[in-house]
Amino acid sequence: MKLQTTYPTNNYPIIVEHGAIQQLNRFVSSYDQTFILVDEHVNQLFADKLNELSKLQHIQKVIIPAGEQTKTFKQFEETLEFILSHSITRNTAIVAIGGGATGDFAGYVAASLLRGVAFIQVPTTILAHDSSVGGKVGINSKQGKNLIGAFYRPTAVIYDLNFLQTLPYEEVLSGYAEVYKHALLNGQQATLQLEQHFDSQQSLSQLAGIDQFIINGIKTKLNIVVSDEKEHGVRKHLNLGHTFGHAVEYQHKIPHGHAVMIGIIYQFIVANQLFDSGHDIKHYTDYFLALGYPLTMIKDFDFETLYQYMLRDKKNDEHGVQMVLIKQFNDIAVQHIEESVIHDAFCELQSYFK
Ligand SMILES: NC(=O)c1ccc[n+]([C@@H]2O[C@H](COP(=O)([O-])OP(=O)(O)OC[C@H]3O[C@@H](n4cnc5c(N)ncnc54)[C@H](O)[C@@H]3O)[C@@H](O)[C@H]2O)c1
Repeated sequence: MKLQTTYPTNNYPIIVEHGAIQQLNRFVSSYDQTFILVDEHVNQLFADKLNELSKLQHIQKVIIPAGEQTKTFKQFEETLEFILSHSITRNTAIVAIGGGATGDFAGYVAASLLRGVAFIQVPTTILAHDSSVGGKVGINSKQGKNLIGAFYRPTAVIYDLNFLQTLPYEEVLSGYAEVYKHALLNGQQATLQLEQHFDSQQSLSQLAGIDQFIINGIKTKLNIVVSDEKEHGVRKHLNLGHTFGHAVEYQHKIPHGHAVMIGIIYQFIVANQLFDSGHDIKHYTDYFLALGYPLTMIKDFDFETLYQYMLRDKKNDEHGVQMVLIKQFNDIAVQHIEESVIHDAFCELQSYFK
């Protein structure tokens, strides 16, 4: 399936297919040089496929650390210097092959080289159905996640669903959180349909039928980012679960999606407290536990540490912490939250796991 952005200019295709990587050569053949930045795990798992690619003329493979370890200043500097040592022209392409961390990192490398060269995303995780679309790229700071970066559109997204077959269950769970978030943003029916389809750890681990839900997720993200690329309005909704989630991810070093699922429960509690939304918290904790999310760790969280990270969230303004909240399905609020509410909701969250 081929999707396409609908900006006034500079649009890019999103090809979502089994075997899509075979189309990569077509996309890079016109560049003077192409550097494929590939996650080290992915490189090992798909050695044959990737070695074939790097045999092509003008294509060079650069292996980068797996996952989040790559989103550092040190790795950024090393990679830029390495690529620049090859006397590149502006007619150069950077290809990211890996999960969201590889895509974020490689995109920021592409945005920075000679003030911007072409960038192609080849996502290899479920989570990256989300991260590869929309043009947010960047690295982490000591002060928190994703605090250094840019909005930089890819030239193409080539999503080969065959990559997903080697994902360990932990990464399936992580990616499923963003699939679930997109369903929540689409409303109660979409959410129930997803919950019924993947009703246990066993069904989710088999990934049967995941393709359609991934495509639904990409379409949801696409519609939002096309109408609000720089996150002045509706794009903020995509941060559902992320204010608390990013704090948890950064402090406890758990996969992004696990932390986002915890953040999703947390925002339901805040919504109940502020708007009397009547969300059935136990429904969500039971479902997420049944799928295997590590919710019991919540009992060991420290409020003050997480709150300090929440204070550095990118969505905050001079009034403090802003959160995305499902007041009711199809009624999403972006709302300032007082410290007392943040604290009370935190205590309620912990109370479910004591
Ligand atoms: N730019 C955005 O809009 C956006 C949106 C959401 C998340 N993100 C970012 O995405 C990152 C999380 O992405 P992720 O979950 O894809 O993580 P990741 O890139 O860290 O990959 C997770 C792990 O899976 C491994 N892996 C990747 N593909 C594999 C495959 N096919 N088979 C087996 N293992 C594989 C990696 O080596 C790594 O160990 C975070 O840094 C987050 O901030 C960005």
